[in-house]
Order: sequence, then C-alpha cells, then structure tokens
Amino acid sequence: QTDTPLSTPPMTTSNDFALAFDIDGVLLRGGNPIPEAVDAMKYINGENPFGMRVPYIFLTNGGGKTEQERCEDLTRQLGIEVSPGQFICGHTPMREMAERYNTVLVVGGEGEKCRIVAEAYGFKDVITPGDIIKTRPDTAPFRKLTEDEYNNSRTLDLGKTQIEAIFVFADSRDWASDQQIILDCVMSKNGCLDQRSETFDDGPPVFFSHNDVVWSTSHDYSRIGMGALRASLEALYKAVTGKDLKSIAFGKPQIGTFQFATRLLQEWRSESHGINEPPATVYFFGDTPESDVRGTNEYNEIAENEWYSVLVKTGVYQDGTEPRFPPKKICENVYEGVKFAVEREH
Ligand code: G3P
Ligand code: MG
Repeated sequence: QTDTPLSTPPMTTSNDFALAFDIDGVLLRGGNPIPEAVDAMKYINGENPFGMRVPYIFLTNGGGKTEQERCEDLTRQLGIEVSPGQFICGHTPMREMAERYNTVLVVGGEGEKCRIVAEAYGFKDVITPGDIIKTRPDTAPFRKLTEDEYNNSRTLDLGKTQIEAIFVFADSRDWASDQQIILDCVMSKNGCLDQRSETFDDGPPVFFSHNDVVWSTSHDYSRIGMGALRASLEALYKAVTGKDLKSIAFGKPQIGTFQFATRLLQEWRSESHGINEPPATVYFFGDTPESDVRGTNEYNEIAENEWYSVLVKTGVYQDGTEPRFPPKKICENVYEGVKFAVEREH
C-alpha cells in the first residue's frame, strides 16, 4: 500500500492585500541580508501553508545608484528576482523634477555615480561637487579629488553657470567639501557661483532625497545619515548668514512618497499579476518609527485603502524603548512580520 501524498493546495495570488518593505534594517544591514529576510521572501513567494503568493514592492530612503543597479543587488542579496517596477528609492520621485530645472547640482553617493542617475532621470545639465572642485581646487582647501573622480569630472565656465536647484541624492562621502559647496550655492546670487548674494534669499532651493537622521548598518548602533547632514547644513547656514535655510525633504515619511508607492503598486499588481483593483490593505514593514511608521500611519489617515504599519526589531528601533510613532504591530523580524500579515488575511 502506498502512502497517499499530502494534498497541496493550488498556488493562488492574493488580490486583497499587498506588502511593502523598507530595506535597511528590515531586509539588509550593511549590504548583507538579515537571515530572516531570505525566509520572508520565500514565504511570500508561495512557500507558506496556504500556497499563497503576495504581491510586494520595496520602498527605501536609500539611494546612490540607478534603480536597475539597485534591483540587481537585491536580486543577488535576497535570492529572488527584483524588478525596477517594484522598487522606489529616496531619489526616485525626484525624476519628476527634471522637467522643472535645467542646470542642477547633484550631491552624494560614490564617485560620480549620482550624475548617471540624474541624467537617467532626464536632468539635462548635471553638475557635481567634483566638477566644482576640478574647476576651482581651492573651493575645499583640504579635499583632493581621486584620479577616478578627476577623470569623471568636467571643468565648468563658472561665469556662465547658473545652478537652478540642488539635489542631495545620497549620503555625502565628504561632509566638509559637500557642505562648503552647497553653502556657496545657496549663498550665491541666483545660483551663479562666482557671485555672492547681498541678502542670501535668492539662491537655489535645496532638496534632500530623505530626512533620516540615523539608519541601520552592520554597526551595532545606528549611524548618522542624510537627515544629520541636513540639520548640520541648516545650522551652518544660520551661523554664517543669520537666516533660516528652507530645505525640502523627499522620501518617507512624506505623504507624496506613499502616494508614489500607491501608483507603483497599482502598476506592478496589474502588469505582473493581472490584478486591476487596489488592495484593501497594504502592510508596510519598517525599522524606523520616524520615517516608516510615521509615514504609513499618516498616509493611512488619507488613503483610500488601509496602510498597516509593522515595526521590526532588527534595525533602528530598539526593543524595550517607546517608539515615537507607535505602529499597529511590532514583530521580532520581517519573517515573523509577513507570517503575521498572511495569517491575519487568511
Ligand atoms: O540611507 C538610507 C537610509 O537612511 C534608510 O534606508 O531602507 O531604511 O529606508 P531604508
Ligand atoms: Mg530602514
């Protein structure tokens, strides 16, 4: 007599709910996968008792590479196929600004990589701090360009260059020279680097791709990030000019970022799963109360569907502390988080 094989239910894709993942501190730390993240990805791709696949997107404040390159990294790190159609990073929504500004200063990231990102977004005339230092090496007295940076930078005609906006795309690799250059721009007359404003109120606007003061890496304790640079820059501007610098942040927790995510999720569910109606609930898994939980909760107030915040303990949030923005659910890690969501929906 042969054993009756256990009947396995046919694979189904959930129409009713979807998932959105923060990356640093939830799926990765210092570029390495958090072990439970790999299990979580298998679980939502059908390796669960219900034979259910759940559509999902990624929503990180990080950046510094093209979406395509970042998705190739994630595919390798998490062992699943990740497409740019399901991926938003801090600077992704900034591509909508390419229509508005022609000559822009793009700051942050490794070498000259962010220039490539900005050009891919359609910005026509992209200037980097490397270009400015190459043109005038005494801009930042103690900063020397590496050979690579020098070769990938261009010399500007400062008398003819007018910067219309400043975009901080990714974490600065050299705070001193980047802050000097941003200050020079915002204190300039209409973005002309060779002219200083008398009133300091006619410089270009400064946009940050997010405002995370700290973030989770391989270090035991959170590291300072772009929000810290922003605070530092605003303090410097005040000290030097006596005025307040009004800068603008994209990324989580901004509502616009969650609206952008809603549109992306809609397209992703339709194109890759053939689902055309919006999900009743979107579970968002994050590690930072100030950006992930706050953004999800505030968006939930105005969204047409439910946005459900899940806080994990593998990143910025420290177990035993009171999160400044309380989530609907706290889980040990993202694997426990996705099991909670799938079981709650089943
Ligand atoms: O620089 C990235 C960091 O501030 C946060 O990334 O994935 O936790 O939103 P993430
Ligand atoms: Mg995070």
